Amino acid sequence: MAIISSKNQSPEPQKRRSRHSAPRENSADTGVPAEVSAPEAESLDRSLVEPRAIAVEEQNSSKPEQNIRPQSLSSYIGQTDLKQVLEIAIKAAKTRKEPLDHLLLYGPPGLGKTTMAVILAIEMGVNCKITTAPALERPRDIVGLLVNLQPGDVLFIDEIHRLSRMTEEILYPAMEDARVDITIGKGQSARTRSIPLQPFTLVGATTKVGALTSPLRDRFGLIQRLRFYEVEELTEVILRTSRILNIPITKEGAEEIARRSRGTPRIANRLLKRVRDYMQVKASGAIDADVAKEALELFNVDPCGLDWTDRRLLSAIIENFNGGPVGLETIAAATGEDSQTIEEVYEPYLLQIGYLNRTHRGRVATPAAWKHLNYQHPGEQLSLF
Ligand SMILES: Nc1ncnc2c1ncn2[C@@H]1O[C@H](COP(=O)(O)OP(=O)(O)OP(=O)(O)O)[C@@H](O)[C@H]1O
Ligand SMILES: [Mg+2]
Repeated sequence: MAIISSKNQSPEPQKRRSRHSAPRENSADTGVPAEVSAPEAESLDRSLVEPRAIAVEEQNSSKPEQNIRPQSLSSYIGQTDLKQVLEIAIKAAKTRKEPLDHLLLYGPPGLGKTTMAVILAIEMGVNCKITTAPALERPRDIVGLLVNLQPGDVLFIDEIHRLSRMTEEILYPAMEDARVDITIGKGQSARTRSIPLQPFTLVGATTKVGALTSPLRDRFGLIQRLRFYEVEELTEVILRTSRILNIPITKEGAEEIARRSRGTPRIANRLLKRVRDYMQVKASGAIDADVAKEALELFNVDPCGLDWTDRRLLSAIIENFNGGPVGLETIAAATGEDSQTIEEVYEPYLLQIGYLNRTHRGRVATPAAWKHLNYQHPGEQLSLF
């Protein structure tokens, strides 16, 4: 999958621009935003809309490493509910010859949000411009991206909960009425111009849907959660990746890796590569369950998929705070981990498998976590008497 920076794209819009006249001047005096036609908009001072943020355009590539990302809804494994919803939305949009509704995808990292955005663009037969909220620091970054979109294009913004307030406000009319309002000049000579946009689809991705402001959230027609994958689904992901990367593996070997992948395809693919390395150096033939187990134990991934940091977090809660409840910041200080990373990366899976509970007084390690880490839960001691 080639990644092309928007800065390297063909200068097509500039060519078209040179044929058009200068922007209208009068309406700014009235204080009413001037409706600027597309050609006029293109003749606006380029510097106002030049994106500083780099958008990347995803295309097919011959690199096998990139090809492990599924390219169609049918090769996207799992997430059946999400796929059904999107399949209907795509078919309906195509029949109406309209772009897809704006879509918000949320869920823990590595579950396939970016992959889904790229697939949507491929299925709709349009381009996918990919960027991330922290790269859209200044208004001109987002305006530049928006005015350069072709009809129906997908604009994917990762970590959308981190958009600056100004960028967010530019997005509101863009999402609702396909236009951007920009202010030119300062003080008394400031004028507002309204630039019509091509209809487009915004796909936002976030690991923290609660951190989105409600005006932004409400402008998405579709809001979909990605869930953790079942072991069978991850086995399929691993077998698919092995086929693409030419890694010999048995179904049992793939299952063993899948069980330790924390319900996450990105981790499944990562562990598969680690086991492949181990296989090349220490053994031969196809990866089977025994080799996978040996290799992953060496890499400190336990049978539940917990790694060193997960175990450290749980054992800190158990040893230092008698199992909790304990506040997130306190856990972060006790373990030296960043609280945001704990909350967004580690906690969701520990909550999902029932090793951690969130209460209004803080985090609690459940009896299952005590047992998994070979600690005796106080409840168990009492029951002995
Ligand atoms: N449904 C799926 N089927 C097969 N492979 C998948 C699937 N979902 C994700 N993957 C694989 O997992 C990797 C990570 O997916 P992706 O980058 O889309 O995750 P993400 O949700 O965008 O993560 P982040 O929140 O960190 O941006 C991809 O490279 C892809 O190969
Ligand atoms: Mg992503």
